[in-house]
Amino acid sequence: MSPLPIGILASGTGTNFDAIAAAVQAGTLAADIRVVVCNRPGAKVLAKAEQLGIATITVEHRESPTRETFDSRIVEHLQAANVELVVMAGFDRIVTPVLLDAFPNRVVNIHPALLPAFKGLDAQTQAAEYGVRITGATVHLVDTDLDHGPIIVQAAVPVSPGDNAETVRLRILEQEHRIYPYAINLIAENRLRVEGRQVYIQPDGANSTEEPAAALISPPLQRTSR
Ligand code: GRF
Repeated sequence: MSPLPIGILASGTGTNFDAIAAAVQAGTLAADIRVVVCNRPGAKVLAKAEQLGIATITVEHRESPTRETFDSRIVEHLQAANVELVVMAGFDRIVTPVLLDAFPNRVVNIHPALLPAFKGLDAQTQAAEYGVRITGATVHLVDTDLDHGPIIVQAAVPVSPGDNAETVRLRILEQEHRIYPYAINLIAENRLRVEGRQVYIQPDGANSTEEPAAALISPPLQRTSR
């Protein structure tokens, strides 16, 4: 199978970009990163991509009068690069049907919470302040509602009252870097079937089965001597 041509939309540090590029290099993700499109000049992700010899394009959102005109400029670049999957990796703009219609069911995003909890900005701060015991990361298909499309993979992480937004952020990020390349590879290997909100994953070969992991209980149950 030839590698899936992907385009990455990013705005900042690009640690998810790093994880995706590393998985491609390691041969665990059957994709070819054709282009990184960034809306913020000077963002770290640009230098990282350039260092790997990956094409980069900066499209400043401020130079477009509307979200739609911004998206149509992005679409032009993605189509010129023959991208077949659009990967939003720390991209801080809300996308419109202009992008979604150009890549139907072919735009994915990662959100730093267990959706549908803590949608929108600063999900890690929201989780820390709310006092949840478990939060996590979600890879999902993008639709017209914010942080809403069908869920592909989630990872849960524990939270304790001693945590703050930063400790939660780092704990989630570690899991983001595991599940995003994995989820993209499921698409690259054509193993997803989407029916409404349900995303079915075809097992990888005859011997593997999908078994739900044991529950994550937070805080861990304590043994008592009583
Ligand atoms: C990540 O937490 C991602 O979930 C969110 O933006 C953050 C930045 O990621 N959407 P990155 O280091 O730029 O990949």
